[in-house]
Amino acid sequence: MTTKNQALSLLGGLTPSQFLAEYWQKKPLLIKNAIQNFEGLLNPEELAGLACEDDVQSRIIEYKQDKWHARHGPFDDEDFAKLPQKPSAAHNWTLLVQSVNHYLPEAAELLQQFAFIPHARLDDLMVSYAPDGGGVGPHFDSYDVFLLQGQGRRFWRISEQTDLSLIEGAPLRILQNFETSQEWLLEAGDMLYLPPHLAHWGIAVSSVKDGVTTDCMTYSIGFRAPKNQELATEFLGFMQDRLNQDKLTLTGTYQDADLSLQNHPAEIGSAMIATVSANLQKIQWSNEIVAEFLGTYLSDPKADVVFDVNKKMAMRVFAEKLAKLGIALDLKSLMLFFGDAFFINGEQVKVSGDSATLLKALADNRHITATVIQDEALLRQLYDWYIAGYLTFNVN
Ligand code: SIN
Ligand code: CO
Repeated sequence: MTTKNQALSLLGGLTPSQFLAEYWQKKPLLIKNAIQNFEGLLNPEELAGLACEDDVQSRIIEYKQDKWHARHGPFDDEDFAKLPQKPSAAHNWTLLVQSVNHYLPEAAELLQQFAFIPHARLDDLMVSYAPDGGGVGPHFDSYDVFLLQGQGRRFWRISEQTDLSLIEGAPLRILQNFETSQEWLLEAGDMLYLPPHLAHWGIAVSSVKDGVTTDCMTYSIGFRAPKNQELATEFLGFMQDRLNQDKLTLTGTYQDADLSLQNHPAEIGSAMIATVSANLQKIQWSNEIVAEFLGTYLSDPKADVVFDVNKKMAMRVFAEKLAKLGIALDLKSLMLFFGDAFFINGEQVKVSGDSATLLKALADNRHITATVIQDEALLRQLYDWYIAGYLTFNVN
């Protein structure tokens, strides 16, 4: 695990604490050679292969005849064959594949390098491919993002403009105007951190060496920040469930022993309003309840995520494998905790003592090494998660 006072080459020699204090959510940072010799984790053919799979979220963005076009995957060979073989400024394209960390262990490992930002904020690793001149146009994102350059190069421009008006009717968010404030050519291993709402524009630049063309691939490590309104709506839904489970101290029935005669029987009397208002104010929440809400909500997988259930096995065999191999979170799993409450893929369990220490290590590092589990209840819990496909044995 990174310590907050350790200078990281990933952050251009800054410590995570310095990065958080000076740049995170505040200003952009260009880091040359953030990852030495980084050439990427997969090649264009492998990325295109992912984009052809049913459960993978992918898009092809094409710019032609002065217009932007967006299509969603899964794609097939014909879709790729139809794209311009000789792209130009007037006609180009890019392929974007979301959540590559769900399919590639190396991608999940790459994300662990960014664990100086809480897992609860992590969204996914998106990988893009574009031939020379391709890109998604000038835009801004609502998310914090680290744009790590894989193979090839990308010419980035950023803008401090406050005019964020978008082209109306475009199938993706494209800024109407773009005024460059800074620009850089990023090469393999270079990285650009951008805070939310900062306008940017990246154009793929292919490199040619010994007659071999290398096109641009960019790795976007994206962090999510839910809208306050979304959090409020979801939280009220969560509170409603608790109310239905009678977990809130709102008992009893409406009472009006002091009812006085009203002039209008149809009028909602002020005494009734005051009594109901006082009762509603008894609906309160502690930090534990908010943590429970956040843990279940933020660890809940996106709608398209499906876990592959594992075959049942004898508990003794499971314990032996755990003792021999250790266990890891499945690439699609997210595990968070608060105190002794643990959240995995939207589910909550309470665990204390040594078992909690072990689960915290699993949540932080996404794996635990070979371990003999003494606590029967913990063993059963890990087994259930394994069967559900949330966990997988480490490979030797
Ligand atoms: C890209 O990789 O093509 C786009 C990344 C971004 O601008 O957010
Ligand atoms: Co962007």
